[in-house]
Amino acid sequence: MSFEKRVVIVTGAGSPRGIGRAIALTLAEKGADVVVGDLDPAGAEKIAEEIRAMKRGAMAVQVDVTRQQDVTELVRTVLDRFGRIDILVNNAGITQPIKVVDMTENDWDRILAVNLKGTFLCSKAVLSTMIKQGYGRIVNLSSVSGKRGGGVFGGAHYSAAKAGILGFAKALAREVAAHGITVNSVAPGLIATDIRGGLESLERQKEMSRDIPCQRLGTPEEVAAAVAFLASEEAAYITGEDIDINGGSHMD
Ligand SMILES: NC(=O)c1ccc[n+]([C@@H]2O[C@H](COP(=O)([O-])OP(=O)(O)OC[C@H]3O[C@@H](n4cnc5c(N)ncnc54)[C@H](O)[C@@H]3O)[C@@H](O)[C@H]2O)c1
Repeated sequence: MSFEKRVVIVTGAGSPRGIGRAIALTLAEKGADVVVGDLDPAGAEKIAEEIRAMKRGAMAVQVDVTRQQDVTELVRTVLDRFGRIDILVNNAGITQPIKVVDMTENDWDRILAVNLKGTFLCSKAVLSTMIKQGYGRIVNLSSVSGKRGGGVFGGAHYSAAKAGILGFAKALAREVAAHGITVNSVAPGLIATDIRGGLESLERQKEMSRDIPCQRLGTPEEVAAAVAFLASEEAAYITGEDIDINGGSHMD
């Protein structure tokens, strides 16, 4: 797989131990220029520096994926600098461990906004460019929570958002397939990142792994490998599909 001359946007890639960073570095290693979008500009800049050290083009852009204006500005900035957008990875996401009985309307709106609306806004924003190019790859971060109904840490709003991403991806995949654009998703299980408020101790990770057939949490790099495949030229005939990366904790 080569990503030479490919321009990639990864949202939510500013987290130092996150899945987005692993995706950004994996694609850069294989030749891509990478735009690191994140709410946190300092975090995004650090990842962009790591990519520049690999002698690839990189740019950090502060973006709130829930705001159309931010997303439009992100795409304009990328086109000014690189002139094209080949791959969008909708990775920005947040979770909240809460039961429906305790969930407020605001909780629901916030989780749906970042995970689902953000995926819609960013996908919409790159489409006209990808259609003009006759080429594009969109890869979304869903979750095992969206497929089996609840994960260990996400509430029902997170499950709804991540299931919504799968439906959105399939419908969009049909719309744009004739333009050489594929739309796919990955559904990770428990991955060792800071999304749950900090990296768990090894002891805690062991406890959390008991019910996982592979007996461990996944790594961001293992998610990145699947994303890279779906974003590659080699995956041109795969669209509307999703790949589980969960150590066997859910099989369908
Ligand atoms: N870690 C897991 O176990 C796991 C499992 C399944 C799915 N996922 C999904 O993978 C993706 C990455 O998760 P992670 O574990 O790397 O999380 P993380 O918390 O390490 O990183 C998420 C990043 O998204 C950014 N972000 C949050 N809100 C944003 C917004 N409105 N606009 C732009 N950026 C925003 C944060 O600043 C952060 O840098 C998420 O979509 C998550 O739901 C994670």
